[in-house]
Amino acid sequence: MAEEAILGYLENHDEISDSGQFATDRGLDHNDVVNVIKSLHGFRYIDAQDIKKETLVLTEEGKKYAEKGSPEVQLFLAVPQEGSISKEELQKLLDPAVYKIGCSQAAKNKWVQMGNQISRKGGFENVQCLETCLSKWVSYMAAGVQHVEDRVKDLLLQIQDGQELGKDDNNSLKARKLTALQTWKGYSVKRGPEYAPRRRRTATDLTREHLCRAHEKNAYHVEDAVTEGDWRNIEFKEYNFSAKGPPPESGHLHPLNKVKERIKNIFRLMNFEEMPTNRYVESSFWNFDALFQPQQHPARDSHDTFFLKAPATTKQLPEDYVEMVKRVHESGGYGSRGYGYEWKREEANKNLLRTHTTAISSRMLYALAQHAKQQSFTPKKYFSIDRVFRNEAVDRTHLAEFHQIEGLVTSFSRLGMDKLKFKPAYNPYTEPSMEIFSYHEGLKKWVEIGNSGMFRPEMLRPMGFSEDVNVIAWGLSLERPTMILYGINNIRDLFGHKVDLGLIKKNPLCLIGIK
Ligand code: PHE
Repeated sequence: MAEEAILGYLENHDEISDSGQFATDRGLDHNDVVNVIKSLHGFRYIDAQDIKKETLVLTEEGKKYAEKGSPEVQLFLAVPQEGSISKEELQKLLDPAVYKIGCSQAAKNKWVQMGNQISRKGGFENVQCLETCLSKWVSYMAAGVQHVEDRVKDLLLQIQDGQELGKDDNNSLKARKLTALQTWKGYSVKRGPEYAPRRRRTATDLTREHLCRAHEKNAYHVEDAVTEGDWRNIEFKEYNFSAKGPPPESGHLHPLNKVKERIKNIFRLMNFEEMPTNRYVESSFWNFDALFQPQQHPARDSHDTFFLKAPATTKQLPEDYVEMVKRVHESGGYGSRGYGYEWKREEANKNLLRTHTTAISSRMLYALAQHAKQQSFTPKKYFSIDRVFRNEAVDRTHLAEFHQIEGLVTSFSRLGMDKLKFKPAYNPYTEPSMEIFSYHEGLKKWVEIGNSGMFRPEMLRPMGFSEDVNVIAWGLSLERPTMILYGINNIRDLFGHKVDLGLIKKNPLCLIGIK
């Protein structure tokens, strides 16, 4: 429709000066006309030039008043012709915004008398100054303003109608935010270099029918009559070699998985064995007690740790070892004084979502010590990378679950993070202890990426290790180094329900510039 109208019009006229007017005159939708113009312009049938116009339109509020009347008139009409109405009553009758604006405008226009009671204003301005005995009679007699004109509504309707208003009226409506300027965009159109009164349909495929046409058999001609197709007369669409094809969809590795793989390889190269971490649920015993973490320690509070409701407690613990752990907490040994409190089995039995993979380290070390007791001690290098859970407020650098790399400091320089700082720290199970920080260029600050130390004898000896077995250990975050390596400023873009899929698709297969 629109296409025929435009091309047809240009056959006899030099120009369509205003696409808007053109559409209105023909009862066409301007959006349709614009789309056709863009397409015809693209194929050079026509030359289109932008035109812009500023038109005055009604705001949503303006539209409401154009329909229902201005707030001041709505309010005026709600006030009884005689007598008065209380503010509360009046408020019930009107929309809150209409009531508020209506009160101030109607009072400004001197249509109503405001007070606790609202009435239509009498002819006497100073009714209240008259002596009390007269005032009632006067306001009754004065009868008040009986009729008002809704000029605002009239003006709004005029604008809706496309009429022009005077400057003062325009300004007052604009000040009341009832009208606004809207930029209207359209086109002026002339014939283009490829102009034709009708669009040439170009073929995009060479089909069998283009080559030959088989005529139907009939009673007189037994043989099929085959004639040449119309391929000679057909205009074929040119190939567009610069058209972009649809982007190929494919799977993408998550940056956490990529960094995890790199780190695993670093550990494997250094002959570390991977620890089996396939248990998110752990007992307090392996997560805390075995690590010489006292039972009153704040980390064991539900504010920091997610405890399980069902199953709430563990079924099995190695009894002999439990006894040793109890003893070292209560009264120490191996040169330690212990904590001197009454250790409770119920506390150790509580199930939780592991807060660190050091729980796995304690299980592995215990097994290693048992093995050492029966056979001989073999030095080991272990590592693991898996999820841990903490009851944390989530923000740009914290999640309530993250991945912990349990495992060595030389690995850092290989990873490509060279701005590192170490800070003395405290863990119940290590001495000395060190927190590890790395500089995040995006956040322009040092962020903690891990914690480390040497396991204390209070942890190792009850397991059955001899005095001369030393264990260095650490727990690093996988997320924080990934943020640093990939320049990600918000941890929630990386992991969790708000993960940024675009970021995962776009990030490089390998990070160049890493040592
Ligand atoms: N478990 C500690 C943490 O989660 C990390 C750590 C592991 C520290 C081993 C020292 C030794 O922060």
